[in-house]
Amino acid sequence: MPQFGSIEMERYLLEHSSPEDPLLHELDRITHLRTIQPRMVSGHLQGSFLKMLVRMARPNLLLEVGTFTGYSALSMAAALPSPQARLHTVEINDELEPLIRSFFDRSPFNRQIVLHIGSLNNALDQIPGLFDFVFIDADKREYIDYYEAILPRVRQGGFILADNVLWDGHVLQDPKPSDHHTRAVKAFNDHVAADSRVEKVIIPIRDGLTLMMKR
Ligand SMILES: C[S@@+](CC[C@H](N)C(=O)[O-])C[C@H]1O[C@@H](n2cnc3c(N)ncnc32)[C@H](O)[C@@H]1O
Repeated sequence: MPQFGSIEMERYLLEHSSPEDPLLHELDRITHLRTIQPRMVSGHLQGSFLKMLVRMARPNLLLEVGTFTGYSALSMAAALPSPQARLHTVEINDELEPLIRSFFDRSPFNRQIVLHIGSLNNALDQIPGLFDFVFIDADKREYIDYYEAILPRVRQGGFILADNVLWDGHVLQDPKPSDHHTRAVKAFNDHVAADSRVEKVIIPIRDGLTLMMKR
């Protein structure tokens, strides 16, 4: 019988979900052709889930840490509740900027997206106001730092979503001292679990997403 996570199950899930937007489909393809680690892209299933969460949360101010080629940003921007709502997305790798902008420019939601090339702290200094929704999807070794920098900037009742919190199942293992990524993801999960400032649940979609609400 096909297992969860199998190609057959993935195909079934996609066949019974809304179809992928043609621009996102093209971006996914170009990401696989032009980048070294294409598996970092959210892809259709997770992108659709992010979009649905944004539809439900109706954020006026949304922050993403880790743009990569822009798939998740474009997915979420399509669900913003009004033309005044803004999605700020931060990417540290400036080599990705031309590719990101070439796709943002073709999106009908381009005017609602603000791309910040550089560090999260610089971007936070430039964005006024409190965030309604934050998607953390950058360097796993820095997750606790992102979380602590971002939480004071989230409104009460606002949401933070963190990606890759199951790290391919490695969180169930005792990592070697040299396995900094697994150690960091486990430390982040423990940090959030012990933090009474947020209500949280881990959703085992793809590589695991932790959804948190600031109390
Ligand atoms: C997993 S990818 C993001 C995938 C993207 N959110 C998507 O769903 O298509 C992680 C990205 O975070 C970027 N990154 C790493 N450290 C960062 C930091 N401190 N600030 C901003 N971006 C960072 C990497 O360059 C990479 O492009």
